[in-house]
Amino acid sequence: MLAPLLPAQLTRDQFQQISQLVYEKCGITLFQGKEDLVKARLGKRLRALDVASYAAYLDYLEQDKSGQELHQLIDAVTTNTTSFFREAQHFEYLRGQILPAKKATVTGMRFWSAGCSSGEEPYSLAIALQEALPVGASRDVRILATDISGAVLARARMAQYHEVVLRGLAPSLVDHYFSASGASPDQVYRVKEVVRRMVQFAQLNLMDSWPMQGPFDVIFCRNVMIYFDQATRARLIQRFWDLLEPGGHLFVGHSESLNGLSHRFRYVRPAIYVKQAL
Ligand SMILES: C[S@@+](CC[C@H](N)C(=O)[O-])C[C@H]1O[C@@H](n2cnc3c(N)ncnc32)[C@H](O)[C@@H]1O
Repeated sequence: MLAPLLPAQLTRDQFQQISQLVYEKCGITLFQGKEDLVKARLGKRLRALDVASYAAYLDYLEQDKSGQELHQLIDAVTTNTTSFFREAQHFEYLRGQILPAKKATVTGMRFWSAGCSSGEEPYSLAIALQEALPVGASRDVRILATDISGAVLARARMAQYHEVVLRGLAPSLVDHYFSASGASPDQVYRVKEVVRRMVQFAQLNLMDSWPMQGPFDVIFCRNVMIYFDQATRARLIQRFWDLLEPGGHLFVGHSESLNGLSHRFRYVRPAIYVKQAL
């Protein structure tokens, strides 16, 4: 079939159906006004499947009992923006406040990067830990990194980044923790084994039940809850509380305070909270 000349039209009703599906599956709220974003992102799925309208696409979704297309839909609507050492103050706090207090008992320290996207966040954590901990100690530190999107997890596991992605990193860190391969402009930098082995990736929808027991010393869930409504955020915050060690820390994105949510965390500084030991 020839590709249609004009982009498919998305009616209000079809947008509502897609929004409802996305909300039920992964908690993401696609607010009114996001129609253009949905069209831009799902247009690619329509072309890949060679379907000409959103009505046909919704039929296809419904009939696809494998759930594959639902995964593709979620991959398409999730926002995966991330970077190495994003919100650098968080890594400063970790280095300056949390790790010094933990050094004596660092063995078995556990971190969770919930909504890790393409890996920059958990690898930044691993590099920060390598830099801060006594030689050998970081081997005992484990970082679980999870995301709903299989596509970003595949990139995270590859651990290969283009030079432009590494621009915010100090050259000494790039030299130390990445190996370059290929020639410019296709040169890529792979995270070294010493860092990769600290991170375990797994696909996990935060709305589902969680297989891990915890407890965690530190949970990073940054720039994820921004897409959820208040009720979903409140539930998630409680579940993070349950999985944290007393004295454990929760880091959220700078635009996502816990204000307005009922919770028991103590505010430490912007976007950092602690589960106070009782
Ligand atoms: C904007 S990125 C944030 C990445 C990283 N935490 C950071 O701050 O740089 C948001 C990530 O949350 C993931 N996400 C969205 N909804 C999710 C859900 N229900 N369960 C798990 N991950 C989800 C997305 O796939 C995306 O990779």
